[in-house]
Amino acid sequence: MEFHKIARSGQIPDGVVRRFFAGDVEVALSRQDGEIHATSNYCSHLDCLLSSGKVTDEGLLCSCHGSVFDYASGEPLCPPATRPIVIFPVREEDGHIHVGIDEELAAAAAKRRASGARRLTPG
Ligand code: FES
Repeated sequence: MEFHKIARSGQIPDGVVRRFFAGDVEVALSRQDGEIHATSNYCSHLDCLLSSGKVTDEGLLCSCHGSVFDYASGEPLCPPATRPIVIFPVREEDGHIHVGIDEELAAAAAKRRASGARRLTPG
């Protein structure tokens, strides 16, 4: 697994979610209660952008139909989503945010991007 430096810490203040790229992999970075989280940017329900959603105390809210995803597991906490979103390992060092991307996932993302598909599903 390779860690990519994808953002400065100051770009993600508390309560904010924003989109970044780690190579071809689209990542939603969010911060809740000071802690940084990295997930796929696509909702597992109908692919809405999670970077257009909201940071809540419970999890990351998809603004399209209201599913909330647990920051740690990616599991949906309420419908309509039934499948988890992808969670990436993340660390914050020296004012930068680094996200770990599995090589297989990076290759799959490049392939999906070339074919026009967006969603990254776990496994
Ligand atoms: S697309 Fe996210 S809840 Fe429907």
